[in-house]
Order: sequence, then C-alpha cells, then structure tokens
Amino acid sequence: MQTSTAPVIDTIRRELGDIAALDATQARTMPPVFYTSADFLELEKEELFRKEWICLGHTGEIPNPGDYFTTELVDEQLIVSRAADGAVHVLSNVCRHRGNLVAEGKGNRRSFVCGYHAWTYDLDGSLKTAPLMSKVKGFDKKKCSLPQLRSEVWSNFIFVNLDGQAAPLAPQLSKLDAILRNYHNEERNLLFTDEGVWATNWKNLTENFMEGYHLFATHPKTLQPMTPTQLCKKVPGEERWTAYRSYYDPAFPPRGPFHKDMTEDEQRNTVLFNIFPSFVVAVAANYTLYLCLRPAGADKVAIRWGVAGFKTDPEDAEVVRYVQLCKDFNEEDREKLETLQRAQNTRYFHSGPLAPDDLEGTIWDFLQYMARRFC
Ligand code: FES
Ligand SMILES: [Fe+2]
Repeated sequence: MQTSTAPVIDTIRRELGDIAALDATQARTMPPVFYTSADFLELEKEELFRKEWICLGHTGEIPNPGDYFTTELVDEQLIVSRAADGAVHVLSNVCRHRGNLVAEGKGNRRSFVCGYHAWTYDLDGSLKTAPLMSKVKGFDKKKCSLPQLRSEVWSNFIFVNLDGQAAPLAPQLSKLDAILRNYHNEERNLLFTDEGVWATNWKNLTENFMEGYHLFATHPKTLQPMTPTQLCKKVPGEERWTAYRSYYDPAFPPRGPFHKDMTEDEQRNTVLFNIFPSFVVAVAANYTLYLCLRPAGADKVAIRWGVAGFKTDPEDAEVVRYVQLCKDFNEEDREKLETLQRAQNTRYFHSGPLAPDDLEGTIWDFLQYMARRFC
C-alpha cells in the first residue's frame, strides 16, 4: 500500500482495507469523506477514470458516417465519431497545431475543421490539410493526426480507455452477456438522450442506481408499484461488474411486447448492472435505461443518459410515457442524492450497516471493487 501526502487518502485506503477484510454479513458503508474529498477525487481520476473502461455514450447517438458528439472525461476533451467505413473512433479533441478545440457539440461532418487556423482532420483523426504549411521544413501531415484513444463497443455502448492499458472489456463481461442474452439489448433502438449535472458525488449516484432498498421510500408512486423493493434479487457479480434483478409486481400489467427469446422469468424482471466504475444500466423487458457517469467535481456528477427499446419512433405515445417515467424517478433520486451530499459534510457519522444482499449487496460489490483498486 502506498502512503500519500494527503492524510484523507490514507484514511480512505485504510477504511477500504478494513472493508475488504469483512465478509458480506458484516457489510457496511464507507465514511462520508469517501464522497466529499477533492484529494480522493484526484486519485480516482488517475486510478479509475484514466485506467478503466469508461462508457461515453450509445452507438445510436452516431448512427451514420460523419456523425459525432463531443464530451469531456477527467478534463480530456474528446470527439466520438463514426468514420466513412462505419468504424467508431474516440479522438482527442485538441488540435495538433496550437491546441484549440477542434469540434464542439454534436452533428454530422465530412471532416473536422479547427476554427482557429483551419487545420482539417478526417473522421478518424488523420490530418487532411493544413493551410500554408507546405513551406515549413520537415512538416509531416502524417505526424499530426488527432490521437485515437482506445475504444470498444459492447452491446451498443461506446467505451474509452484513456491510458490504453486496460485488458479488453468484452471478455470480462461474458457472464453478464449470458444473463442479458435474451433481452437483446443490441437490437434496441436509441429513443431518447439527455445530459445533466447533479450536485452529488459520482459514487452516490452509482450506488443509488444499483440498490433496490430505496424504491419503496424514494419512489412510492413511480417505481415501487411496478418493481417493489421486496422482490429485488441480487445476481452474483464478477471483478468487473455487479447486478441485481428487479422483479415486477404480479399485479402490474405485463411489460411487453417481449423478444421471442425471453423466458417467462425474464419477462418479469429488469436486470440492473454496474460496469465498474461508473456505468449503470437497467435492461427491462421492453426498454433499456442507461446512465454514463463522469465526475465533475467531488460534489458534482455529469450524466449522459438515454433510453433504448424495440420501438423505432421516439414520438410513440408509449415511448414518451416511459421517458417521462424515467425523468420523474430520476428527479426523485436527484432530490435524495443532493441532500445526501450535503449531509456527508459531517463529522458525526462514520459508517452504517448495509441492508441485506438482495437489497444493497451491489453496493458491497462496488466497495469491494474500490478496495481492489486502492489497497
Ligand atoms: S490551433 Fe487548430 S488550426 Fe491552429
Ligand atoms: Fe432511485
């Protein structure tokens, strides 16, 4: 274990070490400083967000050649593009001339033109033209491509690994693939996307999305009537992910139309999973809701989220209703998570017991993952 100059980081490492030594029957939370420390966030940026696979968005955001969107991850400016051959690329959005942003927002382009001196890049990042540069001795266009960062597409989700050193993602998800197979997430069309920033630590939202304990109290009218807390069932996770199934109240109308491959059991539950560290997804019988989370400060999380489904028309009344439901329960979560963040600035609370495995075992898996990364 490394020691650090920031005492708070040593405290957090020690606490994670203690948690790693406990078994699941003794599951408990981390102290509030885990969620409030700016020093620890800097370490998370280096150790997690630069080294792990981080989901940036959905392939349905860039369905056609030339489509792109820009995003930011731990201060790195990125372009996610689809090239003429259909390949998805994640590029550094920093011009190789004097370092301005090359693209902003989202849209469709035949090439990316830096607005400062009009250097022009292909959709895969290679430099096509650099005005008036031909007289510069030794200037070599081939050496001035936008860096292509390592990326992987899994089940329509686009991941980046900034430091390029992570083991390939897909093989680490093969058991999760088997669980999700009949739900056919890869056949679902992107129907809605949005972005937001909540005043809470990224781990608060990750943990909240992944536990069914709060459904009855936080979502009494939205989620509890459909997926009651009492029917949540933990799924054994692996190094890279954790999951649980949220079963539907038998009194609630069936959530079809179902894919023909789905078993009766699968028609009655949603699989919620967290690909560590910060990608959370709920694959329901009919719709997929996902949240790509990036830290925007110790007490702020940037969210890029969306809904996919077997329907194709985003204006379809049922799709609109489902998206509205997601917005409603997201708002309920936001309220709780923003008061949680304020409460976490305390010296009078250290750690609390976690609820049983089916309800908060996913948080325990997440904390064990954090212990593996930091101890
Ligand atoms: S900084 Fe981009 S062309 Fe000069
Ligand atoms: Fe919630």
